[in-house]
Amino acid sequence: MFTRKPPARWALRRWMASGRGSPSSIAILGSKLPWDTADPSTREPPSTRQVLAIHSPQKTHEPQDEPSFYSNDIDRFASKPTRPVTLQNLLQMCEPPLTREKLLQNARYLCRERPIRYAKRVKLFQRLPFIVNSNPFINEVYRMYYRNFEESRGFPMVETLEDHEAFIQMLTRHSDTLKHIMPQIARGFFETRMYFGTRARQTFLDQLISMRISLRLLTSQHIALHNGYTNGACHSVIDRIVLGDTVRACAQGVQTMCEMSYDSAPDFEVDGDAAAFHYIEPHLEYMVVELLKNAFRSSLQAGQDGEIPRVLITVSKGNGKVAIRIRDHGGGIPRRIHDKIFDYAFTTVEHQDSADPAASETRAAEPPFAGLGFGLPMTKLYAEYFGGSLHIVSLEGYGCDAFLELPSIKVDRVPAITI
Ligand SMILES: Nc1ncnc2c1ncn2[C@@H]1O[C@H](COP(=O)(O)OP(=O)(O)OP(=O)(O)O)[C@@H](O)[C@H]1O
Ligand SMILES: [Mg+2]
Repeated sequence: MFTRKPPARWALRRWMASGRGSPSSIAILGSKLPWDTADPSTREPPSTRQVLAIHSPQKTHEPQDEPSFYSNDIDRFASKPTRPVTLQNLLQMCEPPLTREKLLQNARYLCRERPIRYAKRVKLFQRLPFIVNSNPFINEVYRMYYRNFEESRGFPMVETLEDHEAFIQMLTRHSDTLKHIMPQIARGFFETRMYFGTRARQTFLDQLISMRISLRLLTSQHIALHNGYTNGACHSVIDRIVLGDTVRACAQGVQTMCEMSYDSAPDFEVDGDAAAFHYIEPHLEYMVVELLKNAFRSSLQAGQDGEIPRVLITVSKGNGKVAIRIRDHGGGIPRRIHDKIFDYAFTTVEHQDSADPAASETRAAEPPFAGLGFGLPMTKLYAEYFGGSLHIVSLEGYGCDAFLELPSIKVDRVPAITI
């Protein structure tokens, strides 16, 4: 017979703190509820609306910056269509001459666009099952988005360069506060994985992360334009990268992280064509680091009782594309889990502390070396965002090859995508 999983402690605490639940309603949360069915396959976790409807919450006064599930503003903005720009337009915007009018025009576009895009994200969070959105890591991110929405929609239209200065300050602040939320999101969804189906989680996170990539790209591009206008600095986020150099620097960084986490690290070797190409450097670094972390970790495990096998990195440049192959001899991926490795929150890393969710509330939001199950699905999403690809080929009992292929993004050859 199907037994209901007890609600996590953080969910109960959040429920109490929200003022929506009384002790008796918390007791009810652990008992049989109307959405419980005898057949676990048809059981859906309760949505926030279901929970609220059934427990007739006491009316409470919520502070102004507190996200409200019934905010008409969120619905109003979220229902407006976004106005995506093509990657081609984005690149053309960076071409000289960079005039005052061009800068202000782009600022006005963002001024209209940002509240809509934030509202859509807030709406996504509001549709999560209550127990998932109650997770402290997830809820914190939800609140950040809500605050950014509130501030963005209240910002007056940019008309002058003075307005623009204030606008840039807001963009920078928003960008900084949201810079490190991915480990927080990963931790939140890892902790709530038993309350949220794999497919629903996959859809939610693919949507959320794609939205995040787009808005961050538009925002950082505008900040780069502003820097270009005021001090002649580089004014494009899509930059020329010497592949071999970036990959080598990433591998050195991962080696240090590995030593800090496990007291030793494998050696590595970079070979191939050290050609330059055009891409967004932080995206490239993110993907390479995640693949290297996996390769280093498995190599370390394979070398537990002897020599640690080295990791081989090969870079090459083809027709408008670059490829990176990361090869390890760490024993490969067992066949039975191969179709799960791109699922968010799927990991084979054992956690000593994940059994106690309360303990996680005190942990810093620092990303661990491995164990959240976000590295591969996110790398794939980042790669595919600009029309690239990621493939993992495993020889069970021997090792893995990760193939990352990325387009070179230049004005004369731009992937046909909209942001
Ligand atoms: N090179 C590899 N060798 C062996 N197994 C691998 C390799 N790369 C990935 N895996 C398997 O795929 C799983 C998912 O990898 P992924 O990078 O998404 O998550 P993770 O490494 O567990 O955690 P994190 O989100 O911190 O990266 C890993 O837990 C591991 O079982
Ligand atoms: Mg990983």
